Amino acid sequence: MAATWLKDAVFYEIYPQSFNDTNADGIGDFQGIIEKLDYIKGLGCNALWINPCYDSPFKDAGYDVRDYKKVAPRYGTNEDLYRLFDEAHKKGIHVLLDLVPGHTSEEHAWFKASAKAEPNAFSNRYIWTNHWFMGCKDMPYIGGESERAATYILNFFKCQPALNYGFYRIDQPWQLPTDHPDCIATREAMKDVMRFWLSHGCDGFRVDMAASLVKYDDERKTGTSAVWRNIREMLDEEFPDAAMVAEWSEPKLALRCGYDMDFYLNNHGNGYSTLMRDYDEDTDNSYFRKDAPHRDIRRFLNVYEDWYGDTKDLGYISLLTCNHDTVRPRFNLGYDELKLAYAFLFTMPGVPFLYYGDEIGMRYQQIPTKEGGYFRTGSRTPMQWNGGRNLGFSDGDEKDLYLPVDPSADAPTVENQETDPDSLLHTVRKLLALRHQETDLQADAAFEALCTEQDKPFVYRRGALLLAVNPSGEALTAPVQAAGRKAIFTIGTASAANGQLTVGPQSFVVLK
Ligand code: NOJ
Repeated sequence: MAATWLKDAVFYEIYPQSFNDTNADGIGDFQGIIEKLDYIKGLGCNALWINPCYDSPFKDAGYDVRDYKKVAPRYGTNEDLYRLFDEAHKKGIHVLLDLVPGHTSEEHAWFKASAKAEPNAFSNRYIWTNHWFMGCKDMPYIGGESERAATYILNFFKCQPALNYGFYRIDQPWQLPTDHPDCIATREAMKDVMRFWLSHGCDGFRVDMAASLVKYDDERKTGTSAVWRNIREMLDEEFPDAAMVAEWSEPKLALRCGYDMDFYLNNHGNGYSTLMRDYDEDTDNSYFRKDAPHRDIRRFLNVYEDWYGDTKDLGYISLLTCNHDTVRPRFNLGYDELKLAYAFLFTMPGVPFLYYGDEIGMRYQQIPTKEGGYFRTGSRTPMQWNGGRNLGFSDGDEKDLYLPVDPSADAPTVENQETDPDSLLHTVRKLLALRHQETDLQADAAFEALCTEQDKPFVYRRGALLLAVNPSGEALTAPVQAAGRKAIFTIGTASAANGQLTVGPQSFVVLK
């Protein structure tokens, strides 16, 4: 059973480097987040996910943790983060930190001890082979960097050695089984990290690469799932309200091993990417694109309905506008298209996530890589608050900014959208207010697709509410009985008569 506070939760993801800088050093900080809590609350978000803010050499923007229990000085002190938890809680906002359990930085003290030739308590904390030169099949490895005459396995970048939770199938003498005391010690060390933050007021974790713990051939993730189940037992006993969201995108697995939520990610060719990011081929067939040559909501639903049907009583699928690894949706969608896309995302079951800046349609920037971001860097630029210095992000020098702000003359800002009642920002506010007002739009209310034909509006049911969206440029009609119902939210136009529901061009409606 998922944590009950999630029933009406809407998350706001904050990339801390880029949100709000209060000490003019060009990089965001905890105080900056504290000062914007009212803005976040006013938007309709009542929970935060903050990307890793721990001490780190920042070769992967903080996903290379050097000390799990100490925050990076660039954001403030541990006390500042505890104060952020407190201030958020006073406003009814829950806070998830990012847990990176699969790897650390190569500069973590555990790794330095593990790399020593002399055996010690950390020798098996990471995955080492028994040969100075030979690696392991199908897994990236590094040799020649340590005193220890062995190579070590990586989880992601070169700077991120894999922590050792054991192997599901052993075919080499250096591979340890998952119940080896040293693999159990890794798991217990991660529980210790979780306890540390939870007891200081954090409300749970977004878990990085949740599927990556136990190594091969754990294809069905039996070994990794067992680790999470064990961790969930600890949470149920000690922190029953803690919430966990997996970066896994396999809800049938994740929601069965103790996760409350699992992200539906934009993995290539999966259903989610067909909604807003279907531009890998020659034409852009994104469902929400007005001129999509081939629009088909089934491409999303075929996966979603299967997952939802299987997991709706176990936990939540989290739909997101974007995240720090994904191209912002403004890349290929205009404001009117975004309004409809968000209307859909925020009226679906589960727990939605809004990536900072997507509420004003911040653009994806074509800029050089920073801290291991590569193409992702373009989605990590500073939040655009107003027309002032550095668009209100920082009083510092432009040359010191973590990343450049959107240079365009028409860069969207919170300030300029505040004054336009028709802006994306106001639409997001109204949509989230509606979600909080109507239990039938929240996490648990039943979902059913009612009309999914390609030349018709997509019509769906949430609890007793009827919803319809038409992203195309022409009015479309569906054979759905809606007479007698009242529209409680409309973008564009919609009307019902004679057993037909007509949804105007680029329109969305919620009928009660
Ligand atoms: C997924 C994170 O979201 C991403 O930013 C990071 O680079 C990798 N995991 C490695 O931790």
